[in-house]
Amino acid sequence: MTEKNYTLQNASGQSVELPVKSGSAGPDVVDIRSVYGDQGIFTFDPGFASTASCESKITYIDGAKGVLMYRGYPVEQLADKSSFVEVCYLLLYGELPSGDQLAEFEHSIIMHTMINETILRLFNGFHYDAHPMAMVAGVVASMSAFYHDTTDIQNERHRDIFAHRIIAKLPTIAAAAYKHSVGQPFMYPRNDLGYAANLLHMLFAVPAEDYEVNEVAAEAIDLLFLLHADHEQNCSTSTVRLAGSSGANPYSAVAAGISALWGPAHGGANEAVLRMLTQIGSVDQIDKYVDKAKDRDDPFRLMGFGHRVYKNFDPRATIIRGACHKVLDQLGRVDTPLFDLALRLEEIALKDEYFIEKKLYPNVDFYSGIIYRALGLPTSMFTVMFAIARTVGWVAHWTEMITDPEHRIGRPRQLYTGPDKRDYTDISKR
Ligand code: CMC
Repeated sequence: MTEKNYTLQNASGQSVELPVKSGSAGPDVVDIRSVYGDQGIFTFDPGFASTASCESKITYIDGAKGVLMYRGYPVEQLADKSSFVEVCYLLLYGELPSGDQLAEFEHSIIMHTMINETILRLFNGFHYDAHPMAMVAGVVASMSAFYHDTTDIQNERHRDIFAHRIIAKLPTIAAAAYKHSVGQPFMYPRNDLGYAANLLHMLFAVPAEDYEVNEVAAEAIDLLFLLHADHEQNCSTSTVRLAGSSGANPYSAVAAGISALWGPAHGGANEAVLRMLTQIGSVDQIDKYVDKAKDRDDPFRLMGFGHRVYKNFDPRATIIRGACHKVLDQLGRVDTPLFDLALRLEEIALKDEYFIEKKLYPNVDFYSGIIYRALGLPTSMFTVMFAIARTVGWVAHWTEMITDPEHRIGRPRQLYTGPDKRDYTDISKR
């Protein structure tokens, strides 16, 4: 890292030199850590749009150019040539695995897919119509009550076992949540199936008959998971880092990330897109809804459009758009009207001055929901699928933070605008 300087001058003309750090790509950052100590002021950046909260070597995004790279590899190349499990290895360990390393990693993940029967019984405590994200967040948080043998976060071997366990068990937990919501018996994982195929088996097989995994469906899930695996310091990843920065049990930190992901501005958008397309209903209604989205006094937004970082096409959306065609063609074009509506909406919005001026392009969640729907998943499971994929990103970032010698508890400051000191008034006088 090369160091430059940045001069900050206060109202009385006193200036302070702040070091500027350059990364391997992306804008330089001004290191403001000494500003409060030297000048007694805080910096103000709600939503962290101008703040680099940490140094990271995992994922790089250039939002203006629509670039996304995991450990330096463009996501397009990985989507074309790699698999989700190989990308998990890459994100966790920094390099692509050799054949032996990949086989060993895959074996370890397969061997950790079963969940403790006590964890399985936790689902009975939920009502049948509980949202699966609520069940998954609750059950993952409860995992901090298990595995006491391997939660020394300073121990590299313990961290590794945690990483493999959580990546392996998330599909099992997600499928159990789904089975609970539809009142079907839980299906145990199968060690002869790959990651995505095993998930499909646990979701859709029933004990009464044989189930054959559809290869197109398994490939589509693998691709979607690969594209969702990490996205640098997004809301849920930052939540995992912040929760984990206190030294909290890593399963609790991941549960916090799952909760953050659930919101419609983040991972919940895939569910919201489907609800929006259903609400729009037909092509002739699109103009009305585009007008609503542009109206500042109307809270309606085009879900699946816009991104904090991408001010160009989301590269993940471009890849998923192609996959969407393939899945719908090969699975019998179950939801053609919905997909056609989505394409028309995309076309109209991309030509609209409002969306052009604000650089609002379709994001990854605009298409992922349509694929999940074509695979037979209920809308409420879409964000759960995102959570399974993003778990590896959360774990990679949590590990990077815990092993960073400069890591401190995350503790932002504030601009206080509440009442000044005042004296307590007795209740009889209020
Ligand atoms: N429809 C209509 N207007 C929009 C939209 C939209 N989807 N997104 C942003 N805008 C407008 C917004 O009203 C604002 O206008 P103005 O400058 O007049 O106040 C301007 O664009 C900037 O928006 P912002 O809310 O300040 O931008 P942000 O970076 O805080 O929010 C976002 C980013 C993704 C939360 C937002 O674009 C949004 O709510 N999109 C819809 C939800 C969505 O699709 N989320 C998934 C994100 S991708 C998956 C993931 O990473 O989880």
